[in-house]
Amino acid sequence: MTLLEAHNITKRFGGLVAVNDLSLSVSEGEILGMIGPNGAGKTTAFNMISGYYQPNEGRVIFDGKDITGLRPDQVCKLGLARTFQVVKPFPQLSVLDNVLVGAYNRTNDKQEAQQKAREILDFLGMGNMTEQLAGGLSVAGRKRLEIAKVLATGPKMILLDEAMAGLRPIETDEIIELVRQISQQGVALLLVEHVMKVIMSLADRIVVIHHGEKIAEGEPQAVVQDKAVIDAYLGEEVANVAG
Ligand SMILES: Nc1ncnc2c1ncn2[C@@H]1O[C@H](COP(=O)(O)OP(=O)(O)OP(=O)(O)O)[C@@H](O)[C@H]1O
Ligand SMILES: [Mg+2]
Repeated sequence: MTLLEAHNITKRFGGLVAVNDLSLSVSEGEILGMIGPNGAGKTTAFNMISGYYQPNEGRVIFDGKDITGLRPDQVCKLGLARTFQVVKPFPQLSVLDNVLVGAYNRTNDKQEAQQKAREILDFLGMGNMTEQLAGGLSVAGRKRLEIAKVLATGPKMILLDEAMAGLRPIETDEIIELVRQISQQGVALLLVEHVMKVIMSLADRIVVIHHGEKIAEGEPQAVVQDKAVIDAYLGEEVANVAG
């Protein structure tokens, strides 16, 4: 069953059309990858889907409800949660308290929220860091914390915006494995990522954005061999490696 649908969404910033007439859909449990050059409009599309920007045109449907124009917290309450490309922990709060903020999305009970937050931190391999200040974490730690915060909100679907940017290969592999496990629990994902290895190992399907428009969509192996995609984004070399 379809979980998320964006219908012809458009976002303009003054004279710039950052996203133009974009439609996409994600099924329950599916991982959709979104790729495209810098400035293509990926984060803007993300922001429209998650309620941070109002589309100028078009609608967003999630879990059968029209969520266009809802605030981010309302969207999150319905089960659609997102990370930020530039990670935003509360630096003066402990790792546990950062995740607690997310857990209160589903419960007002302090003990229940604490238990949920601890379970998630254990799952992310951060069980021994609960009392550390978030501001002191490494880049990899912050990226994990960002995923923990999102998971704590109890989502049906997660939007990840470059969750693996800036990580070393081994750290990337660890997050790929975690994302796979999250997916196996039935959570759908929309994955914006420049690291092609991540996209190729996780995505069931890919959409390619260029100048705010969708230029290709389909199975990963087919999309990376698409001439328009190679010209706009991948270049011959990457396409050969990925294929
Ligand atoms: N708040 C904003 N105000 C004005 N212009 C914006 C704003 N946000 C994005 N843009 C512009 O919209 C276009 C799309 O930007 P966006 O951040 O969506 O690209 P992206 O695909 O996420 O790029 P990257 O891969 O570098 O993260 C760019 O030209 C960008 O400069
Ligand atoms: Mg972006």
